[in-house]
Amino acid sequence: MSDPLDLAGLRARLAAVAGLDAAALDAEEIGVLGRKQGALTARLKALPSLPVEQRREAGASLNALKLEFEAAFAERRTALAGASRAAARDAVDPTMPPRRDWVGSRHPVTEVTAEIVEIFRGLGFSVALGPEVEDEELNFLALNFPPDHPAMDMHDTLYLDPEGSAPGAGGRLLLRTHTSPVQIRVMREGPPPYRVVIPGTVYRNDAFDPSHAPAFAQIEGLAIDRGITFVDLKATLTHFAERFLGPDTRVRFRPSFFPFTEPSAEMDVGCLLCGGSGCGACKGTGWMEILGCGMVHEQVLRNVDLDPEEWTGWAFGMGPQRIAMLRYGLPDIRLLYGGDMRFLSQFGGLAG
Ligand code: PHE
Repeated sequence: MSDPLDLAGLRARLAAVAGLDAAALDAEEIGVLGRKQGALTARLKALPSLPVEQRREAGASLNALKLEFEAAFAERRTALAGASRAAARDAVDPTMPPRRDWVGSRHPVTEVTAEIVEIFRGLGFSVALGPEVEDEELNFLALNFPPDHPAMDMHDTLYLDPEGSAPGAGGRLLLRTHTSPVQIRVMREGPPPYRVVIPGTVYRNDAFDPSHAPAFAQIEGLAIDRGITFVDLKATLTHFAERFLGPDTRVRFRPSFFPFTEPSAEMDVGCLLCGGSGCGACKGTGWMEILGCGMVHEQVLRNVDLDPEEWTGWAFGMGPQRIAMLRYGLPDIRLLYGGDMRFLSQFGGLAG
C-alpha cells in the first residue's frame, strides 16, 4: 500500500517519544507539531494537494496521529518530572542529623574597637583615618620627637627604604609606629576645633611573643578647641572608662612622658579581673594601665600653625588588643591573631 504521507515514519517517531530525555522531548515536539516546520503540520498543510479520494482518509489519520503525539509528549513530560523528583529525594539522607545554626560574630578586637569608637561618637567625636605607610616627618618630627630619638632607630621602627634618605631628615618612609601622625594630618586638613578618634593598625619592630606583636591596633583621640584644659581630659576619659567598663570603674592618672604631650599621663583602671584586690593579671597592684594621654604639646600646635595661646587640647592613644586582653583575661596576645575556633567561638554568642 502506498504511503505518500509517510505515516509509517511518523508512527516510528511516535513510538520513540517514550524514550526521549527532556531536551530531546522539547526538540521533537517542535519537530513534529511545530506550527512552521513541524513534520506533521507540514503534511496537514499538504492535504489539499492530494487526490480528492485520498484526502478524507489521510486527513483522519493525520488528525488521529496528532492527538496521539500530543498525548505522548504530555505523558513523557510527566514521567520525566516524576523521575527528577525521585532523584532529588534519593540525594537527601533524612536520617542525617541537621547542621547546627552557624552564626558568625565580630572578632574581640573589632568588637572592642567598635565599642570605643561608638562611645566617643556619642560625645561628638568623628572618625578620621590615615595611611599605614607614613613618612618620618609626620610619624616623629612634627610630633616633637627630637631627630635622635631612639624610637626612630631601625631596631624599633620598620622602614620601607632604609637607604632612601638620611636619618632624621624627615623623608624616610616607614610603617607608622602609632596613630598619632594622623593628629597632624587632621590639624593640617582644616581649621580647629577638632574632635576625632582615629582607629588603625600600627607597626613596630617587635618580636611576636605573649605580650608583643609587630602589628597591632590603636585608637587615637584628639580634642582641640579654645579653653580646653586637663580637666576636660580627665573628665572625658573617666566618662569613657565608666561607659566602657561600667559605672563603678575607678580610674587614676599617673605622670608619664610622650614627646607630643605635656603634661603626659597614663590612665589606669581598677583591675578588671579582681576588681582591685590584687591578682596575677594586675601583678597584685589592683590597677591596669589602659591608655597614654596628655595635653597636646605647644610645639606640636606650632608645627601645624596653631597659636598655643588661642588653641589648646588633649590627646590619647590606646591599644584595643591590650584592652581585649584585660577585659577577657587573655594570657597571650597571639590568641588574638590566630584563627583558632576553640578560642574565637567563645565570643559574641557564636555557636560552638
Ligand atoms: N602614640 C602613643 C603611643 O603609641 C600614645 C599616645 C597618644 C600618648 C596620644 C599620648 C597621646 O604610645
